[in-house]
Amino acid sequence: MTVLLDIKNIETYYGPVMAIRGVSMQVAEGQIVSLLGANGAGKTTVLKTISGAMDPQKGMVSYAGEAIQGKDPDWVARQGIAHVPEGREVFPFLNVDENLRMGAFSRHDGDIQADIEMVYDYFPVLKTLIKSQAVNLSGGQQQMLAIGRALMLRPRLMLLDEPSLGLSPKLVQEIAEIIRRLNTEQAVTVLLVEQNAKMALEVGDYGYVMEVGRIVMEDSCERLRDATDIQEFYLGMKDQGVRGRRRWKQRKTWR
Ligand SMILES: Nc1ncnc2c1ncn2[C@@H]1O[C@H](COP(=O)(O)OP(=O)(O)O)[C@@H](O)[C@H]1O
Ligand SMILES: [Mg+2]
Repeated sequence: MTVLLDIKNIETYYGPVMAIRGVSMQVAEGQIVSLLGANGAGKTTVLKTISGAMDPQKGMVSYAGEAIQGKDPDWVARQGIAHVPEGREVFPFLNVDENLRMGAFSRHDGDIQADIEMVYDYFPVLKTLIKSQAVNLSGGQQQMLAIGRALMLRPRLMLLDEPSLGLSPKLVQEIAEIIRRLNTEQAVTVLLVEQNAKMALEVGDYGYVMEVGRIVMEDSCERLRDATDIQEFYLGMKDQGVRGRRRWKQRKTWR
């Protein structure tokens, strides 16, 4: 397996606040890697450090064998890393078609219209909304538009920050299916940040768990699903012995 993204011991600060306290992780080419953790663990900061929105004080981010930490976000995007940020951040007063074209800002080839059609193949609902301003789309449609816009970059690596946030269970499943298809059909390697551990462990090949700025666990998603700690703290299940009977109890640590 070729390592596409190799993060070594990064430390990232907000002013004096150390948000990332020495994180190392790897994403193999062709894989879906899930990064889990509670609110405030540092997941978004890791993605921002990769995409160049933030610079690490220490450590290395290596992509396709090249050190990219500290580079400008535009430069990083041109290397094939598409960042779909938390909260979507589509251009509210541009319509769907214009938003998608903005995603191709760094490209100078002539295939942009063909790629827009590809995005509509993945998200047929967007095609019915071509001339609608993004601000008028539902949360799920905006998430699809944000992923579609990232696709317009023809990325080799996609960073997805909580794509399931605020979506209905049905839409979460739809987004999960799209992530799988982009991975297999478009050969996009994915680093998926989620608080929805169930979805992230279903869709991911390998997973990391973060707490307070550090990686505390890593394994294949299959094994993470079976790990007792994960089940108790991240999947909201607790195996309780009640007079010899065992029952599963909902625990509201996570959604
Ligand atoms: N703009 C900011 N200024 C100061 N601290 C921040 C800022 N954004 C995030 N943090 C802090 O950095 C830590 C990690 O945040 P974040 O990466 O957003 O976590 P997550 O995405 O896992 O919820 C948290 O303790 C958070 O309070
Ligand atoms: Mg976040």
